[in-house]
Amino acid sequence: MAETTRVSRALLLVGVVLTAQLCACTAYGGDGFSVEFIHRDSVGSPFHDPSLTAYGRVAKALARSYARADAPSAHGVVSEITSTPFEYLMALNVGTPPTRLLAIADTGSDLVWLNCSKKGPHGPGPAFAGDAPSPPPPPGVVFDPSKSKTYSPVGCDSGACRELHETVCVDSKCAYFYGYGGGSTTSGLLSTETFTFADDAPGTRGERTTRVPNVNFGCGTTFVGKFIGDGLVGLGNTNLSLVTQLGAHASLGRRFSYCLVPYSVNVSSVLNLGARATVTEPGAATTPLIPSRVKSYYTIGLLSVKVGNATYAAPQQSPAIVDSGTTLTFLSKALLDPLVKELAGRIKLPKAPPPADLQLPLCYNITGLKEGQIAAKIPDVKLGLGGGAAVTLKALNTFAVVQKDTLCLAIAPSARSSLIGNVAQQNMHVGYDLDKGTVTFAAADCARSYSATVPGPCPRPRTRPSHLRLSV
Ligand SMILES: *[C@@H]1O[C@H](CO)[C@@H](O)[C@H](O)[C@H]1NC(C)=O
Ligand SMILES: *[C@@H]1O[C@H](CO)[C@@H](O)[C@H](O)[C@H]1NC(C)=O
Ligand SMILES: *[C@@H]1O[C@H](CO)[C@@H](O)[C@H](O)[C@H]1NC(C)=O
Ligand SMILES: *[C@@H]1O[C@H](CO)[C@@H](O)[C@H](O)[C@H]1NC(C)=O
Ligand SMILES: *[C@@H]1O[C@H](CO)[C@@H](O)[C@H](O)[C@H]1NC(C)=O
Repeated sequence: MAETTRVSRALLLVGVVLTAQLCACTAYGGDGFSVEFIHRDSVGSPFHDPSLTAYGRVAKALARSYARADAPSAHGVVSEITSTPFEYLMALNVGTPPTRLLAIADTGSDLVWLNCSKKGPHGPGPAFAGDAPSPPPPPGVVFDPSKSKTYSPVGCDSGACRELHETVCVDSKCAYFYGYGGGSTTSGLLSTETFTFADDAPGTRGERTTRVPNVNFGCGTTFVGKFIGDGLVGLGNTNLSLVTQLGAHASLGRRFSYCLVPYSVNVSSVLNLGARATVTEPGAATTPLIPSRVKSYYTIGLLSVKVGNATYAAPQQSPAIVDSGTTLTFLSKALLDPLVKELAGRIKLPKAPPPADLQLPLCYNITGLKEGQIAAKIPDVKLGLGGGAAVTLKALNTFAVVQKDTLCLAIAPSARSSLIGNVAQQNMHVGYDLDKGTVTFAAADCARSYSATVPGPCPRPRTRPSHLRLSV
């Protein structure tokens, strides 16, 4: 049946490529690969704003959290956590020959899409209601499908087309419409392409590449709302996400991990795929994924919050989204109120008023204090998770300097789901295993163990792909 053939075409096989290179490099061990995971404000990002101070960047990132969550109500409580990314970017090489694009990496959604040129072989993109131009942040790269030998639009009866909720059939091609919380949308033609990933792990200098044919992605031609970068990579917990698509290759598995270097460190983090995404550090705590209101979110059970010997239990297991695209952490008031009281009682620092635009519950005046002196005054906070796991949040994970001499608890109240944001995940190796249905956290020195290689003088590799393909 034609339909079955098309569905099985969605199955991918990762072509593992050994490239001939000029620089020394180790043989590919089949342990997966790592790509640079770049904070949008960091020095390595094209969106870095050198005019901002370090705390100015943190304050802006915290403020963006409220775009992803709801705007807080008069009582400072966020009623709903929705998905409007984005904080981290990753590099993709798409097509044959490859075009390098820098895309948002989003753990809260599933579709992979790229900004496609409108003059492709498929003509102008389909028109959906609400088309409006969005101002482009420079410098943008547009993917031109007509220049790639491996581009192909996807048929309406393909499995991938059926995964999307809003599609229409245009000339028997699958035109999609995809929305994010906060009203951002994109539409275009669902397509397949060959994606090539350069391994950015320390010591490899990008010489090893992994080529993956037939990745389903949205060739986006209309956008509403503010997106940065040249596209978006959905890493969420559903079938269309990049993780699931890559995971169709048995040796990679449906798993990924990242280790977020602290904001203050001037190197990029990495995103690991395949065996490297397994968290093996001592003290790793594994908790099961639980059903999520929004299917693509990674949701775990949050049972309690502990400071010293004081434990505050959630009234019932409270769902908590684990997300790299939100800076703040959100906790239900039932957990946050006692936590704030407990911390306020223990931290011997002069209080400070919170910055007007950030609804943060607890701030201190740290004039004249050194980083080490401050950290020593802040007790660890332990999150009790489902499955008996416990994750320790250190001062770095709970507090952030948000303006000159002002240190605030980077946790805000939410009326519904809790959310573990990226401040709380700094210096942790966080692994998501969709096959096992788990998330694992372990303390790590991310700059030392997982940071991306600084691009060296080595020439970029000329890849000689030798990819295999699963028969269809
Ligand atoms: C896509 O590229 C076009 C042309 O450069 C640009 O006008 C548009 O803003 C870009 N869209 C996104 C979402 O980046
Ligand atoms: C995801 O893919 C699997 C395997 O192809 C399939 O069994 C499952 O029904 C799909 N899930 C959804 C929600 O379509
Ligand atoms: C960060 O690193 C880059 C490249 O190594 C360097 O040029 C830059 O000055 C550094 N910035 C800071 C703030 O340390
Ligand atoms: C908690 O520990 C402190 C000392 O660290 C002790 O004084 C206090 O009695 C303990 N509280 C409880 C409830 O065990
Ligand atoms: C912090 O305290 C110092 C004096 O100890 C004062 O001069 C300064 O204005 C305070 N800053 C804030 C943000 O409260």
